[in-house]
Amino acid sequence: MAVVRIPEENRRIEDSEAIRAFLAGLSIRYERWAPSYPLTRESTQEEILRAYADEIEALKRDGGYMTADVIDIKPETPNLNVMLARFSKEHWHDEDEVRFIIEGHGLFHIHPREDSLGEGHAGPVVAIEVEAGDLIRVPRGTWHWFDLCGDRRIRAIRLFQDPAGWTPLYTESGAEQGYLPVCMGLQFIPLANP
Ligand SMILES: [Fe+2]
Repeated sequence: MAVVRIPEENRRIEDSEAIRAFLAGLSIRYERWAPSYPLTRESTQEEILRAYADEIEALKRDGGYMTADVIDIKPETPNLNVMLARFSKEHWHDEDEVRFIIEGHGLFHIHPREDSLGEGHAGPVVAIEVEAGDLIRVPRGTWHWFDLCGDRRIRAIRLFQDPAGWTPLYTESGAEQGYLPVCMGLQFIPLANP
């Protein structure tokens, strides 16, 4: 289950209903899904999409998403650091970022702003650690960045309105440098500063 932290307030939320309600206040959708039949680590993309077909169809109708796929990132993925560096700097997309986690972990940081989320939404940076069973939908235009956790592993269903809209657009604010990518669900060993 996800863990939400608000570092500036030294606050942590671990109850799934409290997480859902808190993130809804930032226009971020959070749900827990269970597969319609058991999956294993060897399950194919097709089996995964079939196991969550009802949930995917409901989300597609609700958000206008046209396609769904499964991304599979492992420690041995070629050019992993280059790929991760694209998303670990603050950015936004002209497309919602919709992820349902099948395996592994990920850490989103959300930087709420009035002009991206509407009046009343500005506030401190929020860290959302996701794991298997977590659905997160970050609306288009939301400033955010993403890191893997210590397992350097994530397998996730993605939904797209138009995959071309998912290019990261950078704020160049450097805001991400003020937040350690700390994952609570795994032992985290910070890298020493050179
Ligand atoms: Fe993103």
